Amino acid sequence: KLNLRRGDITRWRGDVIVNAANQRMLGGGGVDGAIHRAAGPELLAACEAIREVSPGVRCPTGEARITPAFGRLQCRHVIHTVGPVYQNAQRSAPQLAAAYENSLALAVENGLETIAFPAISCGVYRYPLDEAAGIALQTCWTHCGPLKSITFVLFGDETFDAWTQGANHVSS
Ligand code: APR
Repeated sequence: KLNLRRGDITRWRGDVIVNAANQRMLGGGGVDGAIHRAAGPELLAACEAIREVSPGVRCPTGEARITPAFGRLQCRHVIHTVGPVYQNAQRSAPQLAAAYENSLALAVENGLETIAFPAISCGVYRYPLDEAAGIALQTCWTHCGPLKSITFVLFGDETFDAWTQGANHVSS
């Protein structure tokens, strides 16, 4: 059920890819930028249509929102989630776990079967790779529910290695 892949999540074929967004949900750098570049302006329009829950906030940290996919993306939907900007394990771990858990719940709610995640919060948001990998794998292992598969699409050897190490723990 859990797969690790190296590469660019915008090329992944399946039901839904998860975007590491920010609370405004109007694009950005990193994987957010790559997904919006591949999807084109229709994705931005779909994000703008998501109601703000407070001024400038469409998706609070730890929550998830779903839109269709567009343009060159090879999937049918995009789930936008917001991971924490790393502060410390105590404060940030529950927020990162919630981002994965709420993304999985949203996929299940929408009857989706295959989902791909990037390494949420591990770039601009500076989450330590080994801590993030453990949380991602444990949360997805525990909450995969009826999903057919969960794939981590990891950009770069360091991230892939962190997830590989983490996977050895979660399955043992
Ligand atoms: N495919 C898969 N993973 C990618 C890709 C890609 N095309 N591009 C980047 N990544 C990886 C990064 O290498 C990192 O491991 O995604 C992980 C998450 O990094 P970021 O994209 O920086 O996301 P995050 O740390 O959650 O910060 C979110 O950054 O881009 C802005 O708008 C975004 O404000 C938000 C913040």
